Amino acid sequence: MSRFAYVNGHYARHADAAIHIEDRGYQFADGVYEVCEVRGGRLIDERLHMDRLERSLAELRIAMPMSRAALGAVLRETVRRNLVRDGMVYLQVSRGVAPRNHLFPAADTAPALVVTAKSVARTSGDTRAESGVAVISVPDNRWERVDIKTVSLLPNVLAKQKAKEAGAYEAWFVDKDGNVTEGSSTNAWIVTADGALVTRPATGGILKGITRTVIFELAARSGLRIEERAFSIEEAKAAREAFITAATTVVMPVVRIDDQAIGNGSPGSIATDLRRQFHDFAEEAAAWSRG
Ligand code: PDD
Repeated sequence: MSRFAYVNGHYARHADAAIHIEDRGYQFADGVYEVCEVRGGRLIDERLHMDRLERSLAELRIAMPMSRAALGAVLRETVRRNLVRDGMVYLQVSRGVAPRNHLFPAADTAPALVVTAKSVARTSGDTRAESGVAVISVPDNRWERVDIKTVSLLPNVLAKQKAKEAGAYEAWFVDKDGNVTEGSSTNAWIVTADGALVTRPATGGILKGITRTVIFELAARSGLRIEERAFSIEEAKAAREAFITAATTVVMPVVRIDDQAIGNGSPGSIATDLRRQFHDFAEEAAAWSRG
């Protein structure tokens, strides 16, 4: 099947899609992105992803490349053209194309927009969730504005690769106080002995995940207590359960941290239930099924 990408006003064949060599995203990582789950042909939590996109852009003083409604239409059209029923849609906005100079380009430089979509079988995540995943801990060496969803992800890339080479799925960043911040592309959670969910506050050190936000709602409705506080890597290793959340992984049980098995070494029941219930609480926006 041919794949298509949206690039600055055009739908191009994926294999031929290209950006300019002086795109500031390419030269300076001067841009932001969003990843939205597609399920049953519908965008999951589109409104919250758009809210976060607008916030990331505003923090970097990059303009929205088009109106929210128009951007939504591009996301849906990219999903439709790629015949994605289950998978993800990726969007990236950079500060645009301009002669290389660290200073911002002229005010009339248009932001650049790229959108891609790909199919991911539902069973691949579900199968992984049945056995759970391992994580390793790594020092958090990122800048302090990780609340912005910037494409500047080099520490995350190196951490994820290190995890893979250690036979793990994810790396958890640990700050200078010994507390877990988040995963290289996921938020980090543990469950206490008495069944409370613990995750770091989104006031520093983490990206405020959309999946994380939905879990707060899900927990409130199902009577689960959430402690929004810092937790150490030692506390995590001794926790009853651990899990990670992201648009691409939804809720994924963690069964090992470094060399320590979590709980009895199998996916925990709370994480497994949250995974099962997640889509009852996430918002579904009509995607190509309506077109
Ligand atoms: N990653 N923390 C980081 C550093 C992330 O990159 C992500 C998402 C999250 C979870 O956010 P959300 O629940 O909104 O997906 C937390 C995306 C999926 C990625 O980079 O592919």
